[in-house]
Amino acid sequence: MCKVISVGIQKGGVGKSTASSIVAYHLKERGFRVLCVDMDGQGNFTQLLTGEDDLYEFRGSTIYNALKDENASSHILKIDDKLHLVAGDEYINTLTPSFHKELKGNYHHVLSKALEPVKNEYDYIIVDTPPALGEISIISLSASDYVLIMFETSKFCYNSLKSYLETINAVQSKVNPNLEILGVLRNMIDVRRTDNKYFSDKVKEEFGDLCFDSIIKRTAAVGRIPALGLSNNSEYRKVMKTYKNFLKEFDNRVIRRRTRKERKN
Ligand SMILES: Nc1ncnc2c1ncn2[C@@H]1O[C@H](COP(=O)(O)OP(=O)(O)O)[C@@H](O)[C@H]1O
Ligand SMILES: [Mg+2]
Repeated sequence: MCKVISVGIQKGGVGKSTASSIVAYHLKERGFRVLCVDMDGQGNFTQLLTGEDDLYEFRGSTIYNALKDENASSHILKIDDKLHLVAGDEYINTLTPSFHKELKGNYHHVLSKALEPVKNEYDYIIVDTPPALGEISIISLSASDYVLIMFETSKFCYNSLKSYLETINAVQSKVNPNLEILGVLRNMIDVRRTDNKYFSDKVKEEFGDLCFDSIIKRTAAVGRIPALGLSNNSEYRKVMKTYKNFLKEFDNRVIRRRTRKERKN
């Protein structure tokens, strides 16, 4: 059964789109069929995966159309055999007034409806979300089995965590009881900065096991992904070095847990 994983927090520049792409590539390399869904109007996930900077190239067959049709099936772009994408669209935010008007405020399930017809074709769907706590983040969480919370080890990101968790809670209790927090991933640690270490330790102390043990360092290779992409083999290997320990934990939390559950049923 397909699992949907949202990557989020309402803060920008903390590594959500980067982590979404790395996780998607990792799952693909492990032989899984992966659909990437770009819910952020900035389209960085789309740009990272396709190398195309101009979102206009995808116009007419994007997440905007998938949500409007409540069916993603004719809006999927094949990056390769195992990695597919519903491209981002800067007009996504113009849809929310029509959700209210046409769906009478009952818009929460619009992404899960759009994904339903294609879910059987994938093992994982990775949803990159915008840096805001608005409707687009809520419909992403409403369609998800898991949320990976990206935490940049800074004061402002620490301040955002509380309201993000409250939003997750509200979605769990009102719309999607299946939503689970996959974990909090501490990202972009600069080893020379004491404030980074302070907020990293503070979050680990507060969240305990919910926080991944591994920490993603700020590295040149990961920073170069927007310029060089992930399909270049030597760059890919360098990036994966930074993400290696986290991806092991990710596999334990997602793939192994899933195999155990499926064996039980
Ligand atoms: N571990 C890292 N090391 C160095 N640079 C990073 C790392 N993770 C992300 N970045 C860079 O930080 C910037 C913001 O990342 P991005 O994934 O776009 O964040 P978000 O999606 O949260 O806005 C990008 O320029 C990206 O290349
Ligand atoms: Mg982003």
